[in-house]
Amino acid sequence: MSAWTDIGAAADLADSARLLAEIDGYYLQCVQVGGDLYAFEDRCTHDDAPLDDAEIEGREIICPRHGSRFCLRTGAALTPPAYEPLRIFEVRQHGDRIEVRAP
Ligand code: FES
Repeated sequence: MSAWTDIGAAADLADSARLLAEIDGYYLQCVQVGGDLYAFEDRCTHDDAPLDDAEIEGREIICPRHGSRFCLRTGAALTPPAYEPLRIFEVRQHGDRIEVRAP
């Protein structure tokens, strides 16, 4: 299993901000929703659209290109045209830093 990688300050996730990072060749983003942290690959599995500006509703993220919804907890594609799940990364707060680990 890979090591934890520091991707930024926990304070930078305030006010619905996102942390973006590249780990092991994957672009990912980290968000905080309702006090919980989620980290997932920053590419829609339908047609590779970046999800940097994707809207988040509850625990779902909505691809801005064709509207597929993904579960932030599991990465599951909830609505077409995407059927493959988003890659999910382990994420934790360590002190005042956010750390992510590739699966
Ligand atoms: S690129 Fe995301 S739904 Fe098509």
